[in-house]
Amino acid sequence: MLKSKHLIGLEHFPTSDLNKIIDTSFKFKEILESPERKAILLKGKTIVNMFFENSTRTKISFTLAEKRLGADSINFSSSTSSVKKGETLKDTIQNIDAMKIDGAVIRHGHPGSALKLTEYIDGAVINAGDGSHEHPTQAILDMVTLKEKFGKIKNLKVGIIGDILNSRVARSDIFALKKLGAKIVVCGPSTLLPSNAKQLGVNITHNIEEVLSWCDVVIGLRIQLERMHLGRIPSKREYHSEFGLTYERISKLKKDIVIMHPGPMNRGVEIDSKIADSENAVILDQVLNGVASRMSILYLLLADKPENL
Ligand code: CP
Repeated sequence: MLKSKHLIGLEHFPTSDLNKIIDTSFKFKEILESPERKAILLKGKTIVNMFFENSTRTKISFTLAEKRLGADSINFSSSTSSVKKGETLKDTIQNIDAMKIDGAVIRHGHPGSALKLTEYIDGAVINAGDGSHEHPTQAILDMVTLKEKFGKIKNLKVGIIGDILNSRVARSDIFALKKLGAKIVVCGPSTLLPSNAKQLGVNITHNIEEVLSWCDVVIGLRIQLERMHLGRIPSKREYHSEFGLTYERISKLKKDIVIMHPGPMNRGVEIDSKIADSENAVILDQVLNGVASRMSILYLLLADKPENL
């Protein structure tokens, strides 16, 4: 049983709940790797996935996790809904809640939208990414991937490279990694680093060689091409040259480091294809662990009496 009713963000999420979700994810991973691949633990529960922003990984893995748990899963896409006719978020949500749902997964461009949803919905709310605020389920699957790879997260040296300023993944990863005792260095151009990076409790460098030679694992972040017009980086080519996870940089390291990326990737910008597809990359393991982690989150938040599996 978790202390939390919802999963809105990791900044104030109890560490005991975070650890419980991570540990239970490994049980679900075993189930996913068994011939059956299912555990009908949420039969009779109805979950609506509300995506007001595009998604591939998060939307599919929530839908799959719900099906693997035997829940009734409904997908709502704002682009084909009455939102297009001017219906407000509040009305949309209240109408969906009137149909008696047990849980809601929401991705929305506005920071705070998942928290707002808890005012209108009786069931559990799970944040699937709210603007540049948090993406807690991505961070949880990242923690599962790290624990799977290294056996523990305490004292792990983690470098996070890229657009820290606009990245909900970076914020949630930092909150999770700090709770679990990892050491963190963030790296990027000063225009893409938040002014409160020190307050976030992380070290900062603008030198990618320095962070790569220090870390055990590097998380490359997507350069948000939709924000290019803001002029925070001179060009994709210059970003790649200064901050890219290039084959040249990684191959000259005197040790192996694990490469992670939440996706979607801009190959040839923040990461070279040769690195993304290399043996050290665990990017597709992250995706599989996303299904197991989301099964764990849904089970622990929605089951009437979740038990130790
Ligand atoms: N990592 C992630 O959130 O990917 P999607 O935008 O495809 O869901």
